Amino acid sequence: MEDLTPNPKDLDPIETASRDEIEALQFHRMKRSLKHAFENSPFYRNRFIQADVHPEDLKSLRDIARFPFTVKQDLRDCYPFGMFAVPQSKLVRIHGSSGTTGKPTVVGYTQADIDHWANLIARSIRAAGGRPGDMLHNAYGYGLFTGGLGAHYGAERLGCTVVPMSGGMTERQVTLIHDFQPRIIMVTPSYMLSILDEFRRQGLDPRQSSLQVGIFGAEPWTNAMRREIEEAFDMHAVDIYGLSEVMGPGVAMECVETKDGLHVWEDHFYPEIIDPVTSDVLPDGQMGELVFTTLTKEGLPMVRYRTRDLTRLLPGTARSMRRIEKITGRCDDMIILRGVNVFPTQIEEQILKCQGLAPHFQIELTRAGRMDTMIVHVECVEDHAAADARAVSAKELGHHIKSVVGVSTRIEVRDPGGVARSEGKAKRVIDNRPKE
Ligand code: DLL
Repeated sequence: MEDLTPNPKDLDPIETASRDEIEALQFHRMKRSLKHAFENSPFYRNRFIQADVHPEDLKSLRDIARFPFTVKQDLRDCYPFGMFAVPQSKLVRIHGSSGTTGKPTVVGYTQADIDHWANLIARSIRAAGGRPGDMLHNAYGYGLFTGGLGAHYGAERLGCTVVPMSGGMTERQVTLIHDFQPRIIMVTPSYMLSILDEFRRQGLDPRQSSLQVGIFGAEPWTNAMRREIEEAFDMHAVDIYGLSEVMGPGVAMECVETKDGLHVWEDHFYPEIIDPVTSDVLPDGQMGELVFTTLTKEGLPMVRYRTRDLTRLLPGTARSMRRIEKITGRCDDMIILRGVNVFPTQIEEQILKCQGLAPHFQIELTRAGRMDTMIVHVECVEDHAAADARAVSAKELGHHIKSVVGVSTRIEVRDPGGVARSEGKAKRVIDNRPKE
């Protein structure tokens, strides 16, 4: 794989600024943002008054801990437009994230918000090794989901030629990759695996494809999956993180030259890690729930938004901004199986150790009597499809999960193609336990 370390002169000056410079900018912006939220969003005004805090109370960055948290339920309670800090006429775009209730969580952007977002995605693509003039195949879904249009505007901003594919029509995805020769692809890691299957089905060698960089996010994925994809396509695979409530993709981005976690674009977002149970702020380096305060958002400023994502804050490396470790999972996705906490990413890591298994999987939870059971549905690869080979793979996976994760599971090894595919975010857990 080509060395894609960027030329320092191509970076935004703030990417290599000193910590003091970054924090001075953050403080200035945070103060302005809290004031904007207080003065222009009745939701925040009430919240601050209830918590007995005022934007003027922010004397240092750490004082943000005095301000109340915001959670997804707040957005639902204010559905659709109740949290915005500008009149609807000033919004140039609405996005949403699908909720379990059927109604999406609605977010909105002013023109300035869209501009910042495009700049941050452009910065992110550059951090991945992208350059002006590159052809970029965008297979994130277009629509209310922030992935498609978010990536699109940023890729254009960097000067790329965008192929706005969206998700789905996998056969066509591969045809166009083959014919257009893009250098970069943006897609969820799970859908990239479907694209990989389709390459093979069409008799094309993925290692010979034009793709040199994959920018993968919108769902948790592991370093083991990175190795799998990099090896299969002979390309760099880097991680992009974000969420609609805070902006969309491009809140944090991994740099291709280090691939050691994701730099939070701290000039626009202030991260904290809290204990998800006590809500106490934790020091850098400790694992907990990621919380963001937006520093420049006009349409929908977010004050201490609890993401539910679990990670830890680490010092900067390729850039001076702090990093988050690859997300382990969401608090909501944590399975507690007979007292042991299990994340789907842990299962993914173990599957990728088994030669005879493909990286597609789903976890089913059932209950027999009072015992919860976890069934891991996984696929064999073509040359391990015989009954005895499958039995060996099942035993091997069961053993890895037991010894590394610490739980006993039932392994169902299906035929190639036997596990449901996603065209966007993969659904990893199916809970068939009776509702209490
Ligand atoms: O998934 C935005 C996005 C689009 C990010 C494309 C990256 C690429 P939502 O639909 O609001 O927005 O979902 C946000 O997805 O809180 C995480 O739980 C999860 N997530 C996003 N990126 C990552 C990642 C978009 N790189 C939620 N690793 C977040 C792990 C991720 N989880």
